[in-house]
Amino acid sequence: MKYLITGANGQLAKEFANYLEKNGQEFLALTREQLDVCNLNNVLEVIESYKPSVILNCAAYNYVDLAETDYVNAFKINGLALHNLSFACKKHNIFLVHYSTDYVFDGEKNDYYIEEDTTNPLNTYGKTKLIGEKLINSGLKDYLIFRVSWLYGRGKNNFLSKILEWSKEMNTLRIAYDEFSIPTSTKFVVENTLKAINCGIKGTYHLTPRGYASRCEIAKTFLNLVGINKFVLPVSSKVFNTPAVRPKFSAMSSKKISQLLNVDFSAWDKELKQTYQEYFK
Ligand SMILES: NC(=O)c1ccc[n+]([C@@H]2O[C@H](COP(=O)([O-])OP(=O)(O)OC[C@H]3O[C@@H](n4cnc5c(N)ncnc54)[C@H](OP(=O)(O)O)[C@@H]3O)[C@@H](O)[C@H]2O)c1
Repeated sequence: MKYLITGANGQLAKEFANYLEKNGQEFLALTREQLDVCNLNNVLEVIESYKPSVILNCAAYNYVDLAETDYVNAFKINGLALHNLSFACKKHNIFLVHYSTDYVFDGEKNDYYIEEDTTNPLNTYGKTKLIGEKLINSGLKDYLIFRVSWLYGRGKNNFLSKILEWSKEMNTLRIAYDEFSIPTSTKFVVENTLKAINCGIKGTYHLTPRGYASRCEIAKTFLNLVGINKFVLPVSSKVFNTPAVRPKFSAMSSKKISQLLNVDFSAWDKELKQTYQEYFK
């Protein structure tokens, strides 16, 4: 297998590069400057020169609030780029792996979302990610889309890194008690993605550890693990008045992929306990 990783400066891409390197696998990881997924000529040039068998698309526009006003860029990167990658993958017989989000759901189900549930994104970020999914599954057969949630790994653009930053500046952290999903480590995503590729699995799946938690519960668990003693005040998400509306309960069930892989996924807090030192110490 020969892997091409896009968006190499991102947290998931870094985890893939780290894992593939450690395991002596052949890969090329390119940053936005080296490969712009929004530019079809650039995509075709790179593919025709490197000839990967799998593309791990880790490029994304992940600024959920900014996307409300920066729609064009969010749409190009999360949507249109998937037309480019699907087109190039079909032309050159390459397997495409892509990541979507729990924010394709509206949070009104009040239960775990399964793959067959109706999507109804509440914000622009979720809408552009859903367009990306549709551009892949309307043009390709050989693909994997994994919907993941509240990803954390190496890098600053995740909820846990933000908690660490805030805890340096404040004694009381005001965290929402009314938004629920599942924190997911990049290590968990990488290991299970590579297993799925090796098993020849195709299609769209949810990929998260078990359980669910509110942001407030996650903050308390995390601060406890890293040994920082700060007061976490549970507040309504309304007080933050963010530009993007977020679903209240978007936890997804990963039963389907765990059965196909024949693996019992751990609960999110056990997973966090096992991985946090790699990223935050
Ligand atoms: N983070 C989460 O909580 C979360 C939740 C659900 C789903 N996901 C999905 O999981 C996947 C991985 O997310 P992540 O957290 O690893 O993302 P990330 O850390 O934000 O990394 C995304 C990378 O994509 C790069 N990029 C942006 N535009 C590009 C372009 N036109 N061409 C090539 N690269 C480009 C960015 O480059 P720059 O560094 O130059 O900006 C950045 O390095 C994404 O599909 C994301 O939507 C993430």
